[in-house]
Amino acid sequence: MVDTKVDLAIARIDSYTVKRVSPTPPAKTGADASPTTTLSSQPASSWREGSTAALAKANSAPSSPRVTVPLRSTSRSRDTASFSLSLHHAISIAVLLLVLAFQLLAPRLPHELRQYFSSKPHWRVPSPEFTLRNPVLFHEPPTCPRPDQHVAFAGTFYTNTERSMNLAEQAKRVAAEFEFGPGNVRKAVKEFVREMDEGLQKEGTELSQIPTYVTAVPNGTEKGLYMAVDLGGTNFRVCSIQLHGNTTFSLTQSKVAIPHELMVAKTSKELFSFLAKQIENFLKAHHEDHYTATIKRRQTEGNIKEEEIFDLGFTFSFPVQQIGINKGVLMRWTKGFDIQETIGQDVCALLQKEIDELHLPVRVAALVNDTVGTLMARSYTSPGKTGTLLGAIFGTGTNGAYVEKLDKVSKLTQSKDAGDFDKSTGEMIVNTEWGSFDNSLRTLPNTPYDVELDAKSVNPGIQMFEKRVSGMFLGELLRIALVGLVKDPAIPLFKDENSSQNDVHSTTQIHEGSPIWKQWGIDTSFLSICAGDHSDGHRVIRQTLDKEYGISAVSAEDAEAVREIAFAVGRRAARLAAVAIGAIVLETGRLRSATASGTATTEDKEGVDPPRGTVDSSGRGEVAEEDVIDIGVDGSLVEFYPNFEEHIRQALREVEEIGEQGEKRIRIGIAKDGSGVGAALIALVAGRMTED
Ligand code: GLC
Repeated sequence: MVDTKVDLAIARIDSYTVKRVSPTPPAKTGADASPTTTLSSQPASSWREGSTAALAKANSAPSSPRVTVPLRSTSRSRDTASFSLSLHHAISIAVLLLVLAFQLLAPRLPHELRQYFSSKPHWRVPSPEFTLRNPVLFHEPPTCPRPDQHVAFAGTFYTNTERSMNLAEQAKRVAAEFEFGPGNVRKAVKEFVREMDEGLQKEGTELSQIPTYVTAVPNGTEKGLYMAVDLGGTNFRVCSIQLHGNTTFSLTQSKVAIPHELMVAKTSKELFSFLAKQIENFLKAHHEDHYTATIKRRQTEGNIKEEEIFDLGFTFSFPVQQIGINKGVLMRWTKGFDIQETIGQDVCALLQKEIDELHLPVRVAALVNDTVGTLMARSYTSPGKTGTLLGAIFGTGTNGAYVEKLDKVSKLTQSKDAGDFDKSTGEMIVNTEWGSFDNSLRTLPNTPYDVELDAKSVNPGIQMFEKRVSGMFLGELLRIALVGLVKDPAIPLFKDENSSQNDVHSTTQIHEGSPIWKQWGIDTSFLSICAGDHSDGHRVIRQTLDKEYGISAVSAEDAEAVREIAFAVGRRAARLAAVAIGAIVLETGRLRSATASGTATTEDKEGVDPPRGTVDSSGRGEVAEEDVIDIGVDGSLVEFYPNFEEHIRQALREVEEIGEQGEKRIRIGIAKDGSGVGAALIALVAGRMTED
C-alpha cells in the first residue's frame, strides 16, 4: 500500500496548492552526516501545469556521464615497464575494437539484450540521437571512420523526401479518419440531449440516467471525520477525511493496486474480502487507538458504541441501479472487470458482510459513483455563489453526474418501488453513465479502428462512447492504427530498406516482443507524450518508442507520423467529451438563467471563510460570478493530456446554442481525488438521515 497525507486545511482545491507531506528522513549527525534531499511532491495546480510538469520531465535531456580514471604511480624496472606498456596497448586496442564492434552491432542485438545494457548507465545502448552514426548529434571528433553519409544539409535531420511524402500522406489520411467536425459535434449534442430525456423517463435506455438519492450538494460548512473507499479501476483507495467546515479538509489515504485475478474472479467474495482487508490494514495503520479500543470493548462489553462506528462512503465506479443511499445492485461491469456472480447483487451488502466478518467499526453509509463524489467534492471546495452543476471523470473510464430537477426524474418520482429520499430541495443528482451514450452509433464516429477495438473487447457493442473517449482505450486505438500501417508493405512506417534511408542511419527495428503487437500494448500516457513533444525531431517520442515499446532507431519522419495520428485520437476524445458537457449545460437550462436555477445549497453561509460568493477564480474577468457554470473534473486525461481543456472549449464554441459567450461562462476546475472527499460528504448526509 502507498500511503499519502494530503492537507487541504490551508488550501482550496480550486487553486490546488495542495501540500503533500512526504516523510523527511531523520537528520544525520557527526561523521555519518551526508547531504540529504527532501523531496516534496507538489501536485499540478491545473491540468495544464500537470501536463507541463510531466513533459518537462520527459523532455529533460540525460546528463552526460563522466568517467574519472584513477592515476597510480609504480616503481617497476624499465623492462617490466615496456612489457606492461605494450600489453597495456594491446589490451586497450582490443577493448576499443570490442566497443566499436558493439556500437556497430547494437541496433541489431535482440531487444532484451539491449534493454539489459540500457539499464546499466555506462553500457547504455545509445538511443537514436546518441548513436555514433548519427551525423547530426555526434559532434565529438570521430574515433572511427564514419560510414558513408547522405547528409542533405547540416544542422537538421536527414530526410528522404520521397519516403517522407508517402508516410506523411498516409499519416494525414489516418488522422483525418479521426476528425470530428463542428457539424458532427452539433448532431451528437442533440442526440445526447434526447437520450438524457429518454433516460429520465424509463429504464433500459442507452444513457442509464441513474437517480442517486443524493438531493443536495454541500456548501462547504460540513464538518466531521469520515471514511471513504474507492473502487473504480486499477487501484483501491482507502481514506479518512477530516472536514473542517470552512471548505477545507485533510485527507489520509492508502492506495493498493487490484490484482488482476480479483478483477475477473469467480466469486464476489474473493474481491470484497480483499477490500475489507485493506480497510482493516488502514485502520490499524492510521487510526490504531480507535481500532484497538473498539476491539477491546467488543471483547469486554460484547458491543461497541454507536458513536465509535465510522460512517463510510463507498465509491463504486460502475453502473449500479441504486435503490437507496446505501443500497444498489450492479448492472454490469466495465473497465475490464468481469465477475459474473456480482451482477444483480447489492454491492454495499457484499462489502458490509466482509467488514463485519473482520469485526471492523465501520458502517457502509453511502454508495457513491466517482462522478457523484467529484461533483460533491468540487461543490464543497469551489469558490463562488453557484453550486457545481456537473462532476465528470476522464480517466480509465469516463462518466458524468449532474444536478437535475426532481420533477424531471419521472422514472423515480412515479415509481412505486423507489426508496426514501428528501424531496425538499426539488433536485437530485443523476449519474448519467454516459460511457454508454449512443451505443447504437447514431452520431458517434466509427472508424475501422473503433470497430476492431470494440470487436476484440470483453463487452462488444457496449460503452461505445467510453471506448472513444477514455484512457483505457485511446492507446489501443492508436496501436491498432499504427499496426495497420506497419503491416501494409506499401507504407514506410518503421521500415527502412537500408540504414541510409533514415536520419539516424540505422535500420529501424520493431522487436518481435514489442508491446505494439499486443492488445492494450500502448498506454494512453504515450498519447500525452506525443501531444507534448515539441523537441527537435520528436526526440521524446523516439526515445519512448525505443525504451518502452521496443522500436529502435525510429526516424524523425516515423515519429512525426505517430505524433500526427496520436494527436488526432486525443483531439477527437476531447471533442466528444465536449458533446457530453455541452448537452448537460443545455439540457439543464443553465445558460438561460444563472443562479436562479442553481443548486439547492447555494446561499451564503456564515462561518465559511472566505464567504461563498466573493471569490472569482474563473480567470474570466468579464463573467459575473453568479453567471458561472461550475464543473468539477478528475482523471488522468484531464490531468495529463496537453490541451484537453482547450480542445473541449473549441468544440463547445462550435455549438450554436452555447457559442463564445456561453463557453466563457463555463468554469472547469479540477477536483483531484475528489471522489474520496465526495464519498465522505455523502456518508455525512447519509449518517444524518439514519439519525433522523
Ligand atoms: C465507467 C463506469 C462509471 C464510472 C466511469 C469513470 O464508465 O461505468 O460508473 O463513473 O467509468 O470511472
